[in-house]
Amino acid sequence: MAHYPAATLHGQSDYSPPCSKINYRKLIRHGKPATRCEITRLANKVAIVTGAGTRSANISGVGVATAKLFASHGAKVLIVDMNEEAANTTKRMIEEAGGEATTFIADVVQESACKALVDAAVERYGRLDILMNSVGIGGPGAAPDVTQELWNRVMDVDLKSMVFISKYAIPEMIKTGGGSIINVASVDGIRAAMTKNVPYAAAKGGMIAATRAMAVHHGRENVRVNCIAPGMIYTSMVEYVDDRKRKLRRDIAPLGTEGKAEDIAMAATFLASDESRWITGVLLPVDAGLMAAGPQSLINNLLDDYEYE
Ligand SMILES: NC(=O)c1ccc[n+]([C@@H]2O[C@H](COP(=O)([O-])OP(=O)(O)OC[C@H]3O[C@@H](n4cnc5c(N)ncnc54)[C@H](O)[C@@H]3O)[C@@H](O)[C@H]2O)c1
Repeated sequence: MAHYPAATLHGQSDYSPPCSKINYRKLIRHGKPATRCEITRLANKVAIVTGAGTRSANISGVGVATAKLFASHGAKVLIVDMNEEAANTTKRMIEEAGGEATTFIADVVQESACKALVDAAVERYGRLDILMNSVGIGGPGAAPDVTQELWNRVMDVDLKSMVFISKYAIPEMIKTGGGSIINVASVDGIRAAMTKNVPYAAAKGGMIAATRAMAVHHGRENVRVNCIAPGMIYTSMVEYVDDRKRKLRRDIAPLGTEGKAEDIAMAATFLASDESRWITGVLLPVDAGLMAAGPQSLINNLLDDYEYE
């Protein structure tokens, strides 16, 4: 049985997973310790989560938060990362909480590694139900700054890996009646970002397009393919962001709160579970409302005195 310590949703401590028998929102809001949860949502499912290593001691990444939450809901998880120490840390955390996980250390840009990691999940656990393509690296630069080397690396890590891991995952999912693929893109793949990052924007936009195509191609085989577009969440990828910028990032979004890796993990858990069995081809922004807002409303969120009567 997995058990995580109590937390406040937007506080610094760990997230407590939802329980089927108790009002977990109430527990989280009041900051009380969560009791043991009944594992049902992902029971008997096998999941691969890429980029699931714990690379920061201070703040979660999306992959690690998702691997932990999947395991807490009963999934057996293959943690994929090129950083062995980071992957082992996630495995240890999952096991200490009573979950089941195995590591697979690889650079996901090689097709041979994509095949090998799917094979490893099936050999270890006998099937494959869920693939969370969370691995990603930043790709900075306006067009005049872009080098071929950076462009190729970002495309390979962020975009090619999701397609080539899916290439081997989909046939395995079909063998057992279907599955769920969740691709982690970004709001930067929908609209231009604050920073100049043409390679990253192109890769994430490509992930969104590939998600829709794959969802349509594999609907009849009951392989669902959905995409999450995180907004300006505070994770290990952006640990360098200072307090002033964190406040601005928080203030500009309609909800006015700071998102964390756990917010993406919760959306991913829904998309991974049978609760979303009739949902495929969806682009789900998890962004405090940022993608719903027009430019004027964003200004309103930052400046108290700007609103028109
Ligand atoms: N953090 C944000 O603000 C934000 C916003 C929007 C989207 N995203 C997306 O969310 C996803 C996860 O972000 P995160 O914050 O968890 O990132 P992170 O940097 O904390 O974690 C990424 C992990 O991937 C691993 N990795 C990198 N390249 C690899 C490779 N080639 N092969 C195997 N492993 C590799 C790293 O070792 C690291 O452990 C990414 O796709 C990112 O683009 C993040």
